Amino acid sequence: MIISSANDYREAAKRRLPPFLFQYIDGGAYAEYTLKRNVEDLSKIALRQRVLNDMSQLSLETKLFDETLSMPVALSPVGLTGMYARRGEVQAAVAADKKGIPFTLSTVSVCPIEEVAPAIQRPMWFQLYVLRDRGFMKNALERAKAAGCSTLVFTVDMPVPGARYRDAHSGMSGPNAAMRRYMQSCMHPHWAWNVGLMGRPHDLGNISKYLGKPTGLEDYIGWLGNNFDPSISWKDLEWIREFWDGPMVIKGILDPEDAKDAVRFGADGIIVSNHGGRQLDGVLSSARALPPIADAVKGDIKILADSGIRNGLDVVRMLALGADTCMLGRAFVYALGAAGGEGVSHLLELIDKEMRVAMTLTGAKTIADITENCLVRLERELTE
Ligand code: GLV
Repeated sequence: MIISSANDYREAAKRRLPPFLFQYIDGGAYAEYTLKRNVEDLSKIALRQRVLNDMSQLSLETKLFDETLSMPVALSPVGLTGMYARRGEVQAAVAADKKGIPFTLSTVSVCPIEEVAPAIQRPMWFQLYVLRDRGFMKNALERAKAAGCSTLVFTVDMPVPGARYRDAHSGMSGPNAAMRRYMQSCMHPHWAWNVGLMGRPHDLGNISKYLGKPTGLEDYIGWLGNNFDPSISWKDLEWIREFWDGPMVIKGILDPEDAKDAVRFGADGIIVSNHGGRQLDGVLSSARALPPIADAVKGDIKILADSGIRNGLDVVRMLALGADTCMLGRAFVYALGAAGGEGVSHLLELIDKEMRVAMTLTGAKTIADITENCLVRLERELTE
């Protein structure tokens, strides 16, 4: 199969992966309206073409929290990434590292912090949920610090898990889930051998270490589900500061008022995100939520954005709408599932090239040049 885009990787991943894994990454919450709007709204943002500006020298480099990124993209934290390729978090982290961009390890990764961080040169980012078990949170922060992680991504849009209908149907959860997953694996021998067998253990690496016993997919649903903390408020985040002195980014902001609270709290960054349409279906797409947030806090805090970004043109659109850097979730996991770390490297190169085309034809020579001037004005207004 010829692969020239994230969508091609999606098709290839669909063939290679057992359905419970493909549907888990591909799906969203409830009727998946927000999931669809994330992609559609972004694709409708019209770029403003400019020509004959000598665009022979372009730079995609950008600075974020004292780090230099070769392009304004980081890999998002995605739970269970290690089920999509053999020791998948390590493979994805190495691909990001080679490209010169950050990799964010999820709390619920397969490979633990101590396996991934030493495999790469640049400091890893680490993502943490708000959990009832504060002992686990403290332990995870200490381990992330010990492993040299630079930035903490603190996810706040999951005080309760969103309903994912596809998971119940696919065997990720629901009746006889373990048996259904086993049957699906048998039907996908390449995955079964390469990842199912040779990629073991399929623990939730960070949590097993803390609990001192092996964990698995059942614990993903069980331990994590019971551990989400709906009582969380800004006050509770203060103690995190005691355990984390590096940059702290709040992930899951969709409203300008919450963005202002993040500035008041003293966060270093926010991620404008609806969790890839996986939490509250019906909320605004990131592309629509971003402009008013940028109007409220741009310059006071770093603005990152995810949800719906599938190519380099989308990265340029998000930057023009007000983001400083973009994060990629699904897109890199499709590539990982289809072709391992090489797939992720290839996808990042495609994004690099697509960004160069978009910058050349909008007249932006540097990342700082990507502003609302790169958009057709009417379209920006339509998204507000
Ligand atoms: C976890 O963050 C998920 O979206 O499944």
